Amino acid sequence: MGDVDMQKIESLAKRRGFIYPGSDIYGGLANSWDYGPMGVEVKNNLRQGWWRRFVLQREDVVGIDGALIMNTDVWKASGHLEDFNDPLVEDKKTHERYRLDDLLENEGVNVGGMSMQDMFDKVKELNIKSPKGNELTDPKMFNMMFQTYLGPVKSDDNIVYLRPETAQAIFVNFKNILDTTRARVPFGVAQTGRAFRNEITPGNFIFRTREFDQLEIEYFCREKEWEKYFEHWLKEMHKWLEYCGVDKKNITKYETPKKDLAHYSKRTVDIQYKFPFGTKELYGLAYRTDFDLKAHAKTSGVDLQYRDPITNEKFTPHVVEPSFGLDRTLLVVLLEAYTEEKERVVMKFPHWIAPIKVAVFPLLKNDAKLVKKAREIFENILPNYASEYDENGAIGRRYRRHDEIGTPLCITIDHDTLKDGSVTLRDRDSMKQVRIRADELLIKLNKFFQGEKFNTLAKT
Ligand code: GAP
Repeated sequence: MGDVDMQKIESLAKRRGFIYPGSDIYGGLANSWDYGPMGVEVKNNLRQGWWRRFVLQREDVVGIDGALIMNTDVWKASGHLEDFNDPLVEDKKTHERYRLDDLLENEGVNVGGMSMQDMFDKVKELNIKSPKGNELTDPKMFNMMFQTYLGPVKSDDNIVYLRPETAQAIFVNFKNILDTTRARVPFGVAQTGRAFRNEITPGNFIFRTREFDQLEIEYFCREKEWEKYFEHWLKEMHKWLEYCGVDKKNITKYETPKKDLAHYSKRTVDIQYKFPFGTKELYGLAYRTDFDLKAHAKTSGVDLQYRDPITNEKFTPHVVEPSFGLDRTLLVVLLEAYTEEKERVVMKFPHWIAPIKVAVFPLLKNDAKLVKKAREIFENILPNYASEYDENGAIGRRYRRHDEIGTPLCITIDHDTLKDGSVTLRDRDSMKQVRIRADELLIKLNKFFQGEKFNTLAKT
């Protein structure tokens, strides 16, 4: 659903507890967002689904969880201190700063393949002013790493950086992993967690923020095999998006031109998504060669070569890196799930992503017998499925609320339940309802969440 209005997504996200503006009661903090009770469940489901798929269900990938702050030598070796820059220009009057590429893109210029000089020439040619209408300065490079101090003394000797990507902890632990596991090339190391970038122009809700979560794999292979694994991971990234319920027609590939490649990459393909604010990078797949391991070996003085236990060859592995943004995944999942129907808005999440799987309602909250039965049913489901008990408001309103949260199934307990032990089970997507026996509920839920169609549930 690439044509959904972002305002609607933002407002639903706030209204239903997915995403709130950061530091809200203090008037917010520009471009900072907090995940609420529903958002954190979706985020956890995505992270766990990714980990299950790419780590637990594969023999050739192991995981780590590295520190956010690393020795500054890491960033010297990786090239981030020198090269992790964005071109920016300044409004000569207001001194506000803008990314050169963003200014051009806003004017409809495709900046793919343009060097910084090309971009600046274009800004001049088109006589582009700052968004406030003032002249712009010449472009400068701006390092995007957040800097802080380790310990109480603020001195140049204590400067450290918050990691701008999760990847480096993997390279730095390469030897530890080889020494302590059975991992043999080809193999991958995965990590998920926060990364920090002092972006010049964050924006578009959670699309570009200054702190975000990455899901990354560094896949170590022999040089001659990198193309094979590059293709493999490209396919895996597409399959993952399909698993997240993303419509193929909103996905495109973008081959990064040589002159725009990051300092470590020989080939990068961006997986792009058709966002309401334009087609933009969702994920990146890079061939990082042996750049990082060699750079860390040189700077640290530690041998980071691999010796094959069977052939005895010794070499520095090459790396293919599929890199996924978790927050961008979540944004895409919200956009794809958002569905407006005649009388309702419904979030049609794939079941595994939905924050709540089952909602349980007594028809009336002031009928003690109904409430008792509904609580009993709810407490039986809760240990098995993320579920919510809700007794407030008319049934129709409770259904609407859970449609907007994306709850796949709602169960209503009414007076017939007390007589014949049956409950109403209601399907989010079709709004169809069936009566089923309360004592068969868990079996039916299991079947439904294992893929059985709602229509056949009452019969089987
Ligand atoms: N280790 C490689 C790397 O970090 P990247 O293309 O700079 O590559 C990978 O980032 C992914 O991280 C992006 O494709 C995107 O999904 C996510 N990402 C990057 N910067 C982001 C930001 N400022 N806000 C949200 N997500 C971001």
